[in-house]
Amino acid sequence: MGRPFLKWAGGKRQLIPEIIQNLPLDFDNKEWTYVEPFLGGGALLFHMLNHYDNVSKVIINDSNSDLISSYTSIRDDLENLIIELKKIEEEYLMASEDSRAAFYYKTRKCFNEGTTKGSLRSAQFIFLNRTGFNGLYRVNKKDKFNVPHGKYAKPNICNSKNLKKTNQILQHAIILNGDYKSTLEYCEGDNIFFYLDPPYRPLTKTSSFNSYSKKAFDDNEQIRLKKFCDFLDAKGIKWLLSNSDPKNYNPDDDFFDDLYKAYSIKRIQAKRRINSVVEQRGTVSELLICNY
Ligand SMILES: C[S@@+](CC[C@H](N)C(=O)[O-])C[C@H]1O[C@@H](n2cnc3c(N)ncnc32)[C@H](O)[C@@H]1O
Repeated sequence: MGRPFLKWAGGKRQLIPEIIQNLPLDFDNKEWTYVEPFLGGGALLFHMLNHYDNVSKVIINDSNSDLISSYTSIRDDLENLIIELKKIEEEYLMASEDSRAAFYYKTRKCFNEGTTKGSLRSAQFIFLNRTGFNGLYRVNKKDKFNVPHGKYAKPNICNSKNLKKTNQILQHAIILNGDYKSTLEYCEGDNIFFYLDPPYRPLTKTSSFNSYSKKAFDDNEQIRLKKFCDFLDAKGIKWLLSNSDPKNYNPDDDFFDDLYKAYSIKRIQAKRRINSVVEQRGTVSELLICNY
């Protein structure tokens, strides 16, 4: 069984049991096209590929081109990717603590200069993700990756066994890099299911947790996404969407309740870091919205 090879902010590993419980009732009884337009680390994608033989077609997408290149390198150029990643891993793990930090920043600089391509660039991306602070992906205004070194004692950088399994399960996937809308072009036939996990609407005015890119996913973007959901609904496509619940902070904030009032809205409890202060980690309610 393959599992996510990246750590990704907003990863849905802990929500999988609730998401599975909220799949369409006929999900087990038919063949499905599974579409995940906001892929990130792909927690649900891996669960689907490992557990659902009746998922016969897979379409995945993310707007982050380096993220998507890491998936295509695993699928199309695994041998070279493993060679590059192993080289990086060996050099990093053999170094002293200070030299590890220096190696991390040297790799980050090289990655940001954009001179490396293909499997070497994907290896650098995976390395930065596994050894950077909290596996965050954050860029500055100039679109340069600026996450600091994570100082982990034994980071798992090159898990060849998992990468090989991931290579196998991705063989027939359609892997796209663009806006979520582009997935629709590849959808045909009946029984299409979309799992939509957009960047969260920040829970507080000060939390800017959704800065996966320099272009913010603001309320206008949430409204554009809702129109896309209407479009899918009109085409008879089933979809499930997750998002943060603004009511955790402001019980009067009806943004999503109003926006999605034509659909089914459930509140579920999730363990999530809602704030960088450790004591304030706890359960928060999250939204699962669907059109069935
Ligand atoms: C909450 S994360 C998805 C996390 C994922 N479900 C997981 O388990 O790791 C949201 C993702 O949406 C991507 N994204 C942001 N804007 C997008 C857009 N307009 N179209 C497609 N992807 C987008 C970000 O790059 C990010 O990877």
